[in-house]
Amino acid sequence: MGEVVRLPVAEPSPEERPVLVLDCGGQYAQLIARRVREARVYSELVPHSISAAEARARRPRALVLSGGPASVYAAGAPKVDPGLFELGVPTLGICYGMQLMAQELGGTVERTGVSEFGKTDVRIVPEGELFAGLGAEQTGWMSHRDSVTAPPAGARVTAGSPAAPIAAFEDPERGLYGVQFHPEVVHTPNGQEVLKNFLYAVADAPPTWTAAAVIEEQVERIRAQVGSDRVLCALSGGVDSAVAALLVHKAVGDQLVCVFVDHGFLRKDEAAQVVETFEGHFHVPLVHVSAEERFLARLEGVADPEEKRKAIGEEFIRVFEAESKRLGEIKHLVQGTLYSDVIESGGDASVAATIKSHHNVGGLPDDMEMELVEPLRLLFKDEVRRVGEELGLPERMVWRQPFPGPGLAIRIIGEVTRERLEILREADAILQEEVRRAGLYRELWQSFAVLPAIRSVGVQGDERTYGYPVVVRAVTSDDAMTADWARLPYDLLETISSRIVNEVPAVNRVVLDITSKPPSTIEWE
Ligand code: XMP
Repeated sequence: MGEVVRLPVAEPSPEERPVLVLDCGGQYAQLIARRVREARVYSELVPHSISAAEARARRPRALVLSGGPASVYAAGAPKVDPGLFELGVPTLGICYGMQLMAQELGGTVERTGVSEFGKTDVRIVPEGELFAGLGAEQTGWMSHRDSVTAPPAGARVTAGSPAAPIAAFEDPERGLYGVQFHPEVVHTPNGQEVLKNFLYAVADAPPTWTAAAVIEEQVERIRAQVGSDRVLCALSGGVDSAVAALLVHKAVGDQLVCVFVDHGFLRKDEAAQVVETFEGHFHVPLVHVSAEERFLARLEGVADPEEKRKAIGEEFIRVFEAESKRLGEIKHLVQGTLYSDVIESGGDASVAATIKSHHNVGGLPDDMEMELVEPLRLLFKDEVRRVGEELGLPERMVWRQPFPGPGLAIRIIGEVTRERLEILREADAILQEEVRRAGLYRELWQSFAVLPAIRSVGVQGDERTYGYPVVVRAVTSDDAMTADWARLPYDLLETISSRIVNEVPAVNRVVLDITSKPPSTIEWE
C-alpha cells in the first residue's frame, strides 16, 4: 500500500469568509465596512434584518453591528435576529449595536439623563482583548443618549467614560464584544487599532484583502464570465473606467476593445493622456473617436443646463453606438459600477446599473442588450485607486478629482462655443497646475474654473478691456452630497489670479466662489 498523501486544502478566498457589517441605520455603517477593508479584511454591508441562517450560510469571519440613531426601546427600532449571537461567530457591537447586544443578552439599556457627544475620555480597566497594547487612557468619539447600565450576563466591563461607566464589554467565551464609542471615525485616535485587535486577535481574520489579491480574483472571474468572447469598454478618462478596463485587459488581453468617445470637453491634455496610457503604454486595443466638432455643432444655440446635458448624453450614445456597430457583434460590456452604487441601490444589479448610467454621460443605451462585466462591483473608491496603482496606472489618472461626464460644457454658463471652451480650458489648466504645485490637489474634492456668461470692464496697459471673468471653485467633501468651500491660501489665489489674467487674453477678472453645498451645488450647472 502506498502512503496516503493529504491533498492541500485551499485557503478560502477573502470573499468566501467575509466580515458582515449589519447596517442598523447609522451614518457610519459604510465607514465601518471601509475601515475593516483598510485592515485588509474583506467586509460586506448587509441589512440588520439578515437572519441567523442567512448569515451562517455566508461563513462570516465576524459580525459587526453598526451604530444607529434610534433608541433600542423605540417602536420600530432596528432589531437583529437573536440567533446571530448563538452562531459562535465573533461579534462586535458599536454604539447602538452594543446597546442592542446588551438588551438582547440579559443586560440593560437606559436613558440615564446624561449624553455624550464628541471626543470623550475613555478609561480602560482591566485591559480587554480589544484594547490590547493601547494603554489605560484613551479618547473615544461618542454620540449617545442611552447607555448600557448592565452588561450582558457573563460579560465583563472593560472600559468606562465619565457619563457611561460601561463604555465597553467583552465575553470572550461567547465571542461577544461591545464598544460605546465609534472606533471607525478618525476622531477616535486608536479606533483602527481596536478594530484590528477585534479582526486579527479575536476573529482570527487574516489580512489578505490586498490590491494584488483583488486583481488575481477579478482576473479569474472575468475569464470565467467572458470565456473567449469579445468585450467592449467605454473609456471616459476617469479612474473607474480606466481601472475596469485594465482589469479586463489583464484577464482576456486583446479580446477587449475600448472605445474612447472624446466629446472635446475634457480638461487640457486629458484626451492625449488617455490615448498615450492605454494605447501607448498598456497596448490596449483602442478606438479613439475625436468628436469635438460634432458635439460643438450639436450644442449650437443651446444655453439651458438641462438641455445641454441631454444633448451631450444623446450625442454620446449615438457616437458610441455607431462605433460599436462597426466593431461587429460583441457580447459583453464593461461597466465601472462600484460597491457604493450597489449598496445605494439595495444590492440589485439592474438598479445599480441604472443609477450609474443616469449620472454619467458614459451612460449607455438601455436597448443595448449586452451582458455586463463589472469588475469593480465589490470595491470602494479608495480600493479602486489602490488597484489602479497596483496595475501601474499613472498617478495622475489614479488620483484624478471627480469630473462630470458632460465635462467643461457644464462649466461654461450659457452657450458653449469653441472660443469660450478654449478660454475655460486654458484658465482651468493654470488653476490645476497651481493647485498641484501647492500640494493641495489630493486634499481638495474638486478644484476647477467656471466661465460665466458675463463680461466686465477692466484696464490692461493703457487699454480699457471688456473681458470675461473666471470663477475659481474649490471644495472639500467626503461624498459630494455636501461640500464646503475650500479656504485656499491667499498666496495661491493671487498666483492663480495673476497667471490667468496674464496668460488668458480674453479674461480680465478672477473671482472666488465662497458658497458651500447646500445651498449651492458643486458644479455651476
Ligand atoms: P453637484 O454639482 O450636483 O455635483 O453638487 C455633485 C458631484 O457630481 C458631479 N456631477 C456629475 N457627474 N455627470 C457626472 O458624471 C453629471 O452630469 C454630473 N453633474 C455633476 C460633480 O462634479 C460633483 O462631483
